[in-house]
Amino acid sequence: MATVKVHPKYSAAITFQEITQTRTHPACFMPYTFAESQKLFIRAARSIAGGVNSGIRKLELPVPVYFTHGRGARLWDVDGNEYIDYQLGQGALLYGHAPAGLAAALGEQARRGTHWAAQSLLEIEVAERIQKLIPSAELVRFNNSATEVVGAALRLARAHTGRPLILKFEGHYHGWGDEGLVGFAPPADRWGPDDTPSQLHPSQGIIPEVPTKFVVARWNDPAHLRQRVKQYSGQIAAIIFEPVLCNTSCIAPCASLLETIRDLCDQESMLMIADETITGFRFGGAGAQGYLGFSSDLTILGKAVGGGTPFAALAGKARFMEKIIKGEIVHAGTLNGNPLCLAASKWSLDYVLEHMKEHPGRINKLGQSLMRSLEDCARRHHIPLHPQGPGLVFHTTMLKPGAPPGPINDYRDYVRRHDAPRWAHLRRYLLEEGVRAIERGLWFVSMAHTDQDLAETLPRMERAFALHAQTWQAPA
Ligand SMILES: Cc1ncc(COP(=O)(O)O)c(C=O)c1O
Repeated sequence: MATVKVHPKYSAAITFQEITQTRTHPACFMPYTFAESQKLFIRAARSIAGGVNSGIRKLELPVPVYFTHGRGARLWDVDGNEYIDYQLGQGALLYGHAPAGLAAALGEQARRGTHWAAQSLLEIEVAERIQKLIPSAELVRFNNSATEVVGAALRLARAHTGRPLILKFEGHYHGWGDEGLVGFAPPADRWGPDDTPSQLHPSQGIIPEVPTKFVVARWNDPAHLRQRVKQYSGQIAAIIFEPVLCNTSCIAPCASLLETIRDLCDQESMLMIADETITGFRFGGAGAQGYLGFSSDLTILGKAVGGGTPFAALAGKARFMEKIIKGEIVHAGTLNGNPLCLAASKWSLDYVLEHMKEHPGRINKLGQSLMRSLEDCARRHHIPLHPQGPGLVFHTTMLKPGAPPGPINDYRDYVRRHDAPRWAHLRRYLLEEGVRAIERGLWFVSMAHTDQDLAETLPRMERAFALHAQTWQAPA
């Protein structure tokens, strides 16, 4: 069989032969192939830089998959493969794929107009629903991505306090802008001492001074956090954080961490900025702040707030929004408050409001059941897989040989114990059996997932784990 290169740069990693070969393991009754996705990826690389529109999508093995349609918890690709989807548009699809009511709301709005760059009743209706759901959301402003909202929140915090620095935690992701990426995923040999983590940035081409305007702290160490704030007392405008560290191993805050952040912000007149891009509405109507019981000054909302459309919101206490009200900081955007996104958001928030009784309990239960099944299956096949998280979102860490079991506590702990190549190997088999988790090991459950979806996941998981256990060879 001929070997066709994906792209000169990546040909060493992926061959056509590798993708189309039929597996012969008896446990595998229906191997997935990706020939059509492969063809499209080759074609895409001729017109789209790198063949994908977000760098992380290149991580998908054996090839970035091209999808045709989705419904509920299921997703289909151009090769006709059907997936039970736990990637869910990187968590944005809290309501599952293509819910009928959302499609109708979008269709109706599209017939009235797709864009006005002006006011509409819809934007008030969406703002009022956010106010109703999240107690700290006294006022809101809209954007089209959480990355933009992070920029707005940090600008607001610096303007409000007149201070230059922002404190953020190692391994927390706040979008792909210059500021949001400081201290995200630093390599172990450069992450600096435990008590003074370095302000590393994973991207070239940023404004060189940006990292110097950040103080980086380790997650889940209140004493260390107090020390970091003391060191820069009077210079820090805000502490920004993911309330549950979903972007690294799904790590919940330890006892007293959120109280410590709140106390420090009050004592030092800093703003507490909760980045609820993932947790907002997923962790219930009031997001992680309702689920965990805290009150932030500013909140970043993305993903679920737009039901899968490019929509995000800055929400906050009225006194901290003053600089926007007065026009003293610039907050703008041609597509802010776009009526299509607003129609989707209104439908999404109404859906949350209608399901307040069982949400998030129902998806937490489903997720916890899936976590237990993954753990049991891993044990049967002697695979050191460690699921961690509340359930409605969780992460599977693949422990390195000899790494101790037990909860992952922070970013450094995760890097020390996670066997990324081995997880990528298992994840690929899961994909080839029609179970789709996020490349980095994150799993989301939607409100559209059913017991039946979970039941059908189990035999697929069993086959994937068996194949992984049979074929995995640690690099020499
Ligand atoms: C916690 C968090 N903040 C911000 C962002 C950036 O969101 P967006 O991709 O909409 O810009 C993400 C994206 O995954 C996120 O997880």
